[in-house]
Amino acid sequence: MKPWLSFFIFTFCTMAVLEARSKVVGDSKQTQTPERGGDTASKSVKISSVGTPASNNGHGATDGVVKFGDDKSSGMGINKMASYLQRHRRLDRWGNVTCGVCVFVVTEIRDMIRRATAVQTIVQEVIKFCVNFKIEDEHVCKLIVPQFQEEVLYVVDNLLLSPDEACGIILGDACATPYFPGEMWNVTLPDTPKPIPRPPTPPKPGAPTLRFLQLTDLHLDFQYAVGSPVPCGEPLCCRVDDNITRTSTLTSHAQPGKAGKYGDYQNCDVPIDMLIALFSHLSSIQDQFDYIIMTGDIPAHDVWSQSRTQQVYHLTALDKLFDQYLPNKPVYACVGNHETSPINAFPPPGIPGQDMGWLYGALAESWGKWLPSSAMDTVFRCGVYSMSPYPGLRIVSINNNYCNNGNWWLLLNSTDPCDVLQWLIEELQSAEVKGEKVHILMHIPPGDPNCLKYWSFNFYNIVNRYENTVVNQFYGHSHQDWYTMFYDNLTFQRPVAFGFVSPSVTTYSLNNPIYRIYTLDGDYANSSWAVLDYSNFYLNLTEANLSDKPQWQFEYSPKKAYNMTGLYAKDWDDLLKRMEADDDLFQQFYLHNKNMYPRTPCHGNCKTELLCDIIEGRSYDPDLCSKHINVT
Ligand SMILES: *[C@@H]1O[C@H](CO)[C@@H](O)[C@H](O)[C@H]1NC(C)=O
Ligand SMILES: *[C@@H]1O[C@H](CO)[C@@H](O)[C@H](O)[C@H]1NC(C)=O
Ligand SMILES: *[C@@H]1O[C@H](CO)[C@@H](O)[C@H](O)[C@H]1NC(C)=O
Ligand SMILES: *[C@@H]1O[C@H](CO)[C@@H](O)[C@H](O)[C@H]1NC(C)=O
Ligand SMILES: *[C@@H]1O[C@H](CO)[C@@H](O)[C@H](O)[C@H]1NC(C)=O
Ligand SMILES: *[C@@H]1O[C@H](CO)[C@@H](O)[C@H](O)[C@H]1NC(C)=O
Ligand SMILES: *[C@@H]1O[C@H](CO)[C@@H](O)[C@H](O)[C@H]1NC(C)=O
Ligand SMILES: *[C@@H]1O[C@H](CO)[C@@H](O)[C@H](O)[C@H]1NC(C)=O
Ligand SMILES: *[C@@H]1O[C@H](CO)[C@@H](O)[C@H](O)[C@H]1NC(C)=O
Ligand SMILES: [Zn+2]
Ligand SMILES: [Zn+2]
Repeated sequence: MKPWLSFFIFTFCTMAVLEARSKVVGDSKQTQTPERGGDTASKSVKISSVGTPASNNGHGATDGVVKFGDDKSSGMGINKMASYLQRHRRLDRWGNVTCGVCVFVVTEIRDMIRRATAVQTIVQEVIKFCVNFKIEDEHVCKLIVPQFQEEVLYVVDNLLLSPDEACGIILGDACATPYFPGEMWNVTLPDTPKPIPRPPTPPKPGAPTLRFLQLTDLHLDFQYAVGSPVPCGEPLCCRVDDNITRTSTLTSHAQPGKAGKYGDYQNCDVPIDMLIALFSHLSSIQDQFDYIIMTGDIPAHDVWSQSRTQQVYHLTALDKLFDQYLPNKPVYACVGNHETSPINAFPPPGIPGQDMGWLYGALAESWGKWLPSSAMDTVFRCGVYSMSPYPGLRIVSINNNYCNNGNWWLLLNSTDPCDVLQWLIEELQSAEVKGEKVHILMHIPPGDPNCLKYWSFNFYNIVNRYENTVVNQFYGHSHQDWYTMFYDNLTFQRPVAFGFVSPSVTTYSLNNPIYRIYTLDGDYANSSWAVLDYSNFYLNLTEANLSDKPQWQFEYSPKKAYNMTGLYAKDWDDLLKRMEADDDLFQQFYLHNKNMYPRTPCHGNCKTELLCDIIEGRSYDPDLCSKHINVT
């Protein structure tokens, strides 16, 4: 998610939090959520019974509730965490503005609440704030605030944060509060002792192989308008309502142009013409893969103007493309943070009035075609499933929107939401017993700072426990091409696993569209089910637009490009160390990381950041990176 959005939402949340902390607002202050076209979730929101529950001392000291205070458990110094946050650019664009702005907003809002201002008025103030501080243009501000109103109001009704803590979340260390505190919760691992680690062995020469296609982050934009001006000053451009370039929020390096037929590099998503071109191309090469994985994010980035109906419409639109162009290829998918509305909102079960049935039912409809009926219960419940496409291989599709720190519902209780991790353990344990190998699909790379620390730490431990069983993992969300490492959780030296972070189909932002085909060891008795290599194919967008002939070209295969002997965890760890030492190798990796979009070479902090991303298989562990490379 872009900094502007997280900042803005954080700010709205802060204000709402302060509202909740202040005195009870009477029932007369209830208000109506503005219409969200076609959104069945629209309903009136009432602020009532806000204030401090007697059981809570104001620091959310109940077990399982996210708390924001000192991170005593890890004993990490504030400086280390600050440099971790800095590396992850939580402070970049807003770092300076916001401390002052935050204080300003906090004061304003607190005053409003003391005057028992109606929620609708507060919302108007937030919109004004959004416009005046040029967070977005008026068009976006007016629509995005109401998108989050219901969620934030409910959450703050049940949550307590001090202003310091809230500003600490917004700004990392800039307001001198550490980011993510509280006590680590732990999933329960079975008593069965961990088997002796046995890394996969390469198959015998000539052993059979399977191939599968990965598509991720399609971000299809039905409102894409060829010829509309770019850039447009909104978070998403190339759209029908972008007739006027809004200069107020343009960045200085923007290059004016017109949206191309197959897409545009500058903050635009994917026109249906491009997706049709892609699918008809995939149809013509369908003998080159046996099945498909899809790792989430189908709708466009117009997050200020989405509705549930539209999100489901995108899901079915993609199903139609699969049905039409690749009818015989099984599709195994996982759910992305853009599938829901508003973005990131995945309330865990048990919150009164909140029900993910609208989405999970639609996912069940979409995914059910390729899943056994035994896999469907968990789709309806949590948007996850486990199934075996070939004897010996199991695909486990995880919904890790339950670790997304943009999912405000988790502020109420972030302890293993929907019991997804506990369920994962059961699936892995049963796979271990049966001797199956597992491929995990999930949208957000678990070391991403947007993935909550304790979920991420628990996931890391689970992968550790089942290192013989989890042979491969596939993520999306980042839109760029890299991978992330898992090391043993004691010394953090022995590589135990890794995950592929795959580049996107969308051009958002400054990307060429990419699809990937993996070669897999299988399907034969005792195959290792490990990925042996992959090939990326990209569309040179400039060329496609100019020639009106989208040509997908081979980009690279890691074994050859990076001179790897295999694609096992130890090989990726080895690549990491070689990249640190060999700058040419690293720059080649960087070119692929940016999906062949020309960038200036990556040195200094840029290089450290990317290598640390790879090393950090779990979030908010600022010691991890320096255990492997020289971080200055
Ligand atoms: C939080 O959720 C977990 C898992 O669903 C549950 O066990 C726990 O009791 C909940 N904690 C609170 C404070 O509600
Ligand atoms: C933040 O402020 C400091 C000092 O006021 C200044 O040196 C720095 O360039 C500013 N950073 C940004 C991103 O504006
Ligand atoms: C979870 O495990 C960690 C590390 O083993 C430990 O420090 C922490 O106290 C545990 N938390 C709970 C709630 O048991
Ligand atoms: C933009 O142009 C289209 C087509 O010319 C028109 O239908 C639409 O109303 C215009 N939108 C705005 C915001 O002016
Ligand atoms: C095609 O897209 C490229 C990349 O965004 C853009 O620079 C170019 O102007 C477009 N060309 C045409 C003919 O639309
Ligand atoms: C490391 O992972 C194992 C599972 O393999 C788990 O039992 C153990 O508690 C983890 N250790 C820590 C310190 O988290
Ligand atoms: C597969 O492995 C099992 C157990 O190691 C062994 O008994 C069996 O003979 C193997 N099958 C083949 C075809 O290699
Ligand atoms: C894409 O095409 C443009 C125009 O033909 C060319 O200048 C550029 O080098 C190409 N990019 C790549 C990565 O091939
Ligand atoms: C590739 O790696 C092998 C050892 O794994 C080494 O002998 C060879 O020199 C390397 N080739 C290049 C081009 O780096
Ligand atoms: Zn995405
Ligand atoms: Zn995403």
